[in-house]
Amino acid sequence: MMEVFAIDGPTALSGEVVVRGAKNSVLKLMAATLLAPGRSTIANVPAIADVRIMCELLRRLGCEIDYDAEAGVVSIDVPERPGITADYQLVRLMRASISVLGPLVGRMHAAEVAVPGGDAIGSRGLDMHQKGLEQLGARVTLEHGYFVASAPGGLRGAEIGLAFPSVGATENLVMAAVLAEGETVVENAAREPEIVDICEMLVAMGARIDGIGTSRLVVRGVEALAPVSHRCVGDRIVAGTWAFAAAATGGDVTVRGVGRELLPNVVDKLEEAGAVLTEVPGTPNRDSATTEDPGFRVQGPERPRSIHVATLPFPGFPTDLQPFVIALNAVAEGVGLLTENLFEARWRFVNELSRLGARVSIDGNHALVTGVESLSGAEVEASDIRAGAGLVLGGLLAEGRTEVSGVDHIDRGYEDFVGKLTGLGAVIRRLEKDEPDFL
Ligand code: UD1
Repeated sequence: MMEVFAIDGPTALSGEVVVRGAKNSVLKLMAATLLAPGRSTIANVPAIADVRIMCELLRRLGCEIDYDAEAGVVSIDVPERPGITADYQLVRLMRASISVLGPLVGRMHAAEVAVPGGDAIGSRGLDMHQKGLEQLGARVTLEHGYFVASAPGGLRGAEIGLAFPSVGATENLVMAAVLAEGETVVENAAREPEIVDICEMLVAMGARIDGIGTSRLVVRGVEALAPVSHRCVGDRIVAGTWAFAAAATGGDVTVRGVGRELLPNVVDKLEEAGAVLTEVPGTPNRDSATTEDPGFRVQGPERPRSIHVATLPFPGFPTDLQPFVIALNAVAEGVGLLTENLFEARWRFVNELSRLGARVSIDGNHALVTGVESLSGAEVEASDIRAGAGLVLGGLLAEGRTEVSGVDHIDRGYEDFVGKLTGLGAVIRRLEKDEPDFL
């Protein structure tokens, strides 16, 4: 049996939706707890499959985990001497497993972490992670599909200039440097809000980091860190997904749990498309985001106007929202150009959206979309998290039934996607279907 999301469209989404913590932060916050023995607690944790994978990875390193998915709280008791090996079995399920590398080398002075392969959005190199750790004094070799890192005398601060502001490399290097001897400078560091969140948690654990939120991070190593309680920053990509869904369907959606300030370029583009965005005040709940949290409201136009977007590192337009731009442009008035600057192979989604009648032509890293009056429902397949959510948006825009397979991708990043969409008026169900049995 395989699962699909069956959507009967079109629907204009309307209502209120609460967004909890960011997948791309919480997984790294969980990895960072390895830096201090004792019990750390993270709140505002989304109930997504990737959190369960990270729980399992940490358990295999000897941590005791209590995870209350409904409350959104994970507590991690880190032993005095955690294990150092992250197996391929888990790493292949979730690339973000690579983020235990920095904390393990920093604290245990040794790590063996399986190297994730490429995926549906590109080859995704890790050379900056490796080179940066080497600059900090570790020996890093590739053996039987694993990065084997060792720094018997501990790490030493260094000046590291990243060739590109890589999110993962910045995080791994900062997490390694907080326990190194002396000062580390990371130049051309990534500045995503999730990196700010991780740095703030590290500071609360006793780390010394200057320049948080800028492209020059200065880390002064300390002897030891202490466990912490921390609330994860809201998921701006999930919030952006709802915002695009409201704008593209001509809906009216209030998003709680993420402020507009985390979506600087996105807000401008939604306004260019004809949506009206307003701030919604509120008071953040201590543990998990609720309907009392601040956020913003998006009122979509009757028919959106096409937008031109180039994806860039933060504060530029996020690559993870790229499928939603293409889906919006597919039904917009005019022609929209999307330029993808981060990942070379993020186009599998486009072929699937074309099955719904979208008119898209690809040239290198550009996608030119000519808006049509309406899409028509079809069976399509998700190849990654955002592509999956983008195809569901395609289904909301299309006449008739759309069935999106590969829903396990969507479960990795969106909590209760079907429940939330139903709450906003969508006609969507999770169905089991027979797989072909002739093979
Ligand atoms: C993170 C996010 C992902 C997002 C991406 C860019 C997580 C779990 N994932 O991925 O959702 O799309 O940031 O915002 O947080 N690169 C190299 N060598 C390296 C590192 C990166 O060549 O050592 C390249 C990659 O192949 C890619 C680009 O740099 O083309 C960006 O990668 P990076 O910023 O590192 O993204 P991730 O941390 O993998």
